[in-house]
Amino acid sequence: MCGIVGYIGNKNACEVILNGLNKLEYRGYDSSGIALNIDGKIEVYKYKGRIKNLEDRILSLDLNSGCGIGHTRWATHGAPSDRNAHPHTNMDGTIALVHNGIIENFVALKEWLINEHGVEFRSETDTEVIAHLIDHFYNGDLLDAVYKAVGKMKGAYALGVVHCDEPGKIIAVRKDSPLIVGIGKDENFIASDIPALLKYTKDVYLINNDEFVMLTKDEIKIFNENRQEIKREVFHVTWDADAAEKEGFDHFMLKEIYEQPKGIDITLNRRINEKGAINLDGITITKEDLDKINRIYIVACGTAYHAGLIGKYAIEKFAKIPVEVEVASEFRYREPFIDDTTLFIAISQSGETSDTLAALREAKNKGARILTIVNVVGSSVARESDDVFYTWAGPEIAVASTKAFTTQLISVYLIALYMAEVRGTIEKEYYDLVLRELKALPDKVEKILKNAEPVKEIAEIQHEKQHAFFIGRGVDVTVALEASLKLKEISYINSFAIPAGELKHGPIALIEDGTFLTAIATQDHLYDKMLSNIQEVKARGAYVIGVAKESNKLIEHQADKVIYIPDCIDEVTPILSIVPLQLLAYYIAVMRGCDVDKPKNLAKSVTVE
Ligand code: AGP
Repeated sequence: MCGIVGYIGNKNACEVILNGLNKLEYRGYDSSGIALNIDGKIEVYKYKGRIKNLEDRILSLDLNSGCGIGHTRWATHGAPSDRNAHPHTNMDGTIALVHNGIIENFVALKEWLINEHGVEFRSETDTEVIAHLIDHFYNGDLLDAVYKAVGKMKGAYALGVVHCDEPGKIIAVRKDSPLIVGIGKDENFIASDIPALLKYTKDVYLINNDEFVMLTKDEIKIFNENRQEIKREVFHVTWDADAAEKEGFDHFMLKEIYEQPKGIDITLNRRINEKGAINLDGITITKEDLDKINRIYIVACGTAYHAGLIGKYAIEKFAKIPVEVEVASEFRYREPFIDDTTLFIAISQSGETSDTLAALREAKNKGARILTIVNVVGSSVARESDDVFYTWAGPEIAVASTKAFTTQLISVYLIALYMAEVRGTIEKEYYDLVLRELKALPDKVEKILKNAEPVKEIAEIQHEKQHAFFIGRGVDVTVALEASLKLKEISYINSFAIPAGELKHGPIALIEDGTFLTAIATQDHLYDKMLSNIQEVKARGAYVIGVAKESNKLIEHQADKVIYIPDCIDEVTPILSIVPLQLLAYYIAVMRGCDVDKPKNLAKSVTVE
């Protein structure tokens, strides 16, 4: 996510803001910038790359100002570049602003500003629209102009705004993006998150949605959407800086597991209109396009490969098109059949995985259409694709992928349903049912996360095991693969996953007293077979953790412990059933004293072969 910082007071605003931006680095970013009010002029410095890039260019300039705003950008609209970096300004540079969020109606607003008011845009961002909107409404009162501009906007935003004619003032406002106000002595602050301010103050106001803030160095005023001033309790921060970056979570991985409801919601609901039509961010795949496609490959690595397996399931089930899924490191060396009737779908969180990138380039060189599902805007995979569908999981810091995975699953379901609708291979009521079930997932994931205690208890019992098995049938095989990868990569337990039906073809020879085995049994039509498999392994001494839907209680008589997921249709269970298994891997790794966020030998982005 982007990070914003603002300062007004007697210190050097440039130093305070840069310190704050450095403390927000963990949020992930690709560029940074600062705007300072110097002698009644707004000076803006902003560059692609690390904050050090910005520091190297401005610290020698001795910029003396007591008022300014700064930003670290996590690109959503417009690739990382100097001109797309924040702060953004109006045409005459009298206003500067920083923004964290997404303005959903920015295209219409941009057209209105260009056609009706001759505004000239200098960036590809949604944010720049806000600067021109505020300018349009500005009539000597910055707070008033921000109210009017915000009234035109739809989407999520946390804004910090300054005007050269109001040098001692910062205006801020939030909706669905975080914003806090730091309370100092003869100085005040705004920021996206507490770590940015901890060096200067531990007293903050937590700002709620649709609240506006007017800051001077001596005064903080908070207003509601009706412009009435409101009082707010001071929140005293008890965390230290490191804990605050994780917003009170012990590890980034746990924080990112708990961010999944929001990531799923944003990735899903911003792409479905009120009539239930799916918009793939402007990607058009017509019926003619699909009729021309002879082969679909989904290619990825690790967790992203597992998302590809669910993609195969969804596209074949809904769109009735055969799909081949391969790990990128194999795909590129086996001389696959590729031509201009091939659709190549790459999935990648980082967008920099060298195996995936190399496979994509091979497919592109041979004429395939390249569609990618990627989390990092402007990454290499994104830049080299014909079509990009972004997961909006926000930056994923922990090496073990969690929220990127569930948003990748949402993405493949949306693409599959879109294709099915275009091809006419799905009944309307079934399409509507699946969409309804997907929309209900954020709340169901939230419910699972609120009931993590049983999972922790299982981790207590099993965390000293050296081996672990995961079994499943149908889509639960993929969940078993992903759960097994999570466990092995952060706890170093030797775990593996197999289709339950394969047990009798060899692996059951390994089952003995106390074998730690997780049986994922969420598919109604395969439930009885899974119960039989559980009996088989129980008979040989295994300790079985069952994963099942709430309404399927029979499993309690077979398994030693059961983790339930909220009822849903079979098709969408993977997005739910993986969540408690992410938590299980997390708790086991913590109890084994492992470095959960940075497991040994692993990198967050594997940019080497
Ligand atoms: C998943 O937890 C691992 N960190 C790893 O398998 C990862 O999924 C794989 O390296 C692919 O990374 P990407 O999604 O960034 O391409």
